[in-house]
Amino acid sequence: MSGRRAYGIVVLTGAGISRESGLSTFRDPDGIWATVRIEDVATPEAFARDPARVHAFYNARRAQLAAVKPNAAHQALARLEREWPGPVLLVTQNVDDLHDRAGSRPLHMHGELRRARCLACAETMPWTADLSTATPCPACGAAALRPDVVWFGEMPLEMDRIAAALAGCGLFVSIGTSGTVYPAAGFVADAGHARRVELNLEPSAGSASFGEAHHGPATKTVPAFVDQLLLSR
Ligand code: APR
Repeated sequence: MSGRRAYGIVVLTGAGISRESGLSTFRDPDGIWATVRIEDVATPEAFARDPARVHAFYNARRAQLAAVKPNAAHQALARLEREWPGPVLLVTQNVDDLHDRAGSRPLHMHGELRRARCLACAETMPWTADLSTATPCPACGAAALRPDVVWFGEMPLEMDRIAAALAGCGLFVSIGTSGTVYPAAGFVADAGHARRVELNLEPSAGSASFGEAHHGPATKTVPAFVDQLLLSR
């Protein structure tokens, strides 16, 4: 195999990849932000103002994970990670665990619904049950747990690791994201030297920055793209 074929791949996913598993996106007409305001549930100020409301929002989304499962797009990316001869970094904006359950090891840049973080001792821990303002931290006992997700106004996770992977990759693939929220929306520019492909239901806000696009549902476009990539090794 020539070195060229073992180049690094960075994949970015958004809510669209989980849509066919039954999870809502954010900005589609039937999306989450059509029924609840970001300012009321997804900012540090919202949590300070009304923590019970924020906990209820994330408790409902966390509970929903028990009723859904990974789809063919998640499975195809797990296969790419297993079979591609070079490094593959899967960066997801999603806080669901569908990539993980498909066998991927994603970098959750916006955190995870199934983890909690203690504001008193800073410990983070796996969490599948409901959270409330009275839930004691398993590590320090303080009733100071929050969802371990990144809210608007907070810094996404592992940005240095993502920047390094983008700088060295030969292929950047963006899947199921509207390309409207930074810093993720800027990754395509950071991968300007690489082959850039968009797999989305429809052109995203950043579609002009991609050299290639395959529009349609992720359960169709992602397995087809992975098959073609692995055949070209
Ligand atoms: N297959 C592929 N793409 C799809 C599908 C599907 N079945 N259904 C919807 N999409 C596309 C939509 O066309 C849209 O471009 O997925 C995208 C979803 O966009 P958003 O709802 O904006 O979700 P996302 O891009 O992940 O949002 C980014 O914003 O609210 C914050 O933190 C939240 O991580 C989220 C971030």
